Amino acid sequence: MTTSQRTLSIIKPDATRRNITGQINQRFESQGLRIVAQKKIRLSLAEAEKFYAIHKERPFFKDLCAFMCSGPIVVQVLEGDNAVLLNRQIMGATNPANADEGTIRKDFAESIEANSVHGSDSEESAHSEIQLFFSELEIVG
Ligand code: CMP
Repeated sequence: MTTSQRTLSIIKPDATRRNITGQINQRFESQGLRIVAQKKIRLSLAEAEKFYAIHKERPFFKDLCAFMCSGPIVVQVLEGDNAVLLNRQIMGATNPANADEGTIRKDFAESIEANSVHGSDSEESAHSEIQLFFSELEIVG
């Protein structure tokens, strides 16, 4: 069964720095996801810490938040059939060393931290992550 879903995607500072947001968006669009909201922003440290609060006890939390503030990011809502899982397949494994051929992280990520993209890991987190960045009026399906 297919269900239309929305998921939150972030194109991270390592990717905006290398000017490859278009190449990344092409991966989403060519594999069935529609970009129904998108904006380029720069996170404050407090905003990054709020977004990644679930990881606050992890040893990489401080570095991760500093990295996410180190340059602009593109936040976007992707929509399509099974968008949460489909986006995770398109991104590939968190660690680019473990990512499958043809995935964004295999082809573009620099490291486990500078791994080019974030995507929500469940429908529940998609819902709350989308609300952190977008109002319903800004999402145009
Ligand atoms: P992301 O999908 O944005 O979710 C949390 C991020 O933490 C993850 O991608 C990685 O970029 C980052 N990270 C850094 N170190 C690690 C690690 N050892 N294990 C998991 N995630 C890590």
